[in-house]
Amino acid sequence: SSHVEHELVNVLFTEAQIQQRLAEMAAQITEDYAGKDLLVVGVLRGAVMVMADLSRAMPGHLEMDWMAVSSYGSGTKSSGVVRILKDLDTDISGRDVLIVDEIIDTGLTLSWLVNNLSSRSPASVEIATLLRKPEALSMPVEPKYVGWDIPNEFVVGYGLDYRERYRNLRDIGTLAPHVYS
Ligand code: PRP
Ligand code: MG
Repeated sequence: SSHVEHELVNVLFTEAQIQQRLAEMAAQITEDYAGKDLLVVGVLRGAVMVMADLSRAMPGHLEMDWMAVSSYGSGTKSSGVVRILKDLDTDISGRDVLIVDEIIDTGLTLSWLVNNLSSRSPASVEIATLLRKPEALSMPVEPKYVGWDIPNEFVVGYGLDYRERYRNLRDIGTLAPHVYS
């Protein structure tokens, strides 16, 4: 079949499981930020799905902004180079900022982003991530909200890509080996 769902060899998290976990995270975030003026910052492009669903699971007022960064400036992630491709449109001085991403892999992206946003005098900067790979972590990142810890396997779907494909899958899973060849 041409349906991309059939190229997943193993579904790690179904759409229903993802929505359930995001609802739990949203409830916790709502409680923690009660009475505060929350600014949620999504990290393009992978975080688009999480931003859409997490934000809609939160009943109160919030603002949304977006950043795009590239961590491939000098070839590979291991270079440690991060560049801003699209900066915030919001002045975050004095603001409570929650960065939202769909995965922490090496931690390079979010450790750099936390440092960068922290230098702009926000009231607070925290991280919410749907997935985290503890075995791959090589930079200090301490997300306040984590959906699930996963093994160090390549996963796609729900915003996560392989060569820019599979972001539109509703589930998260691993690709069948034939896809890579
Ligand atoms: C992916 C993912 C995270 C980041 C995690 O984004 O969406 O933002 O990598 O990896 P790290 O912890 O090793 O930094 P990517 O830079 O591939 O761009 P994308 O969001 O446009 O897919
Ligand atoms: Mg990303």
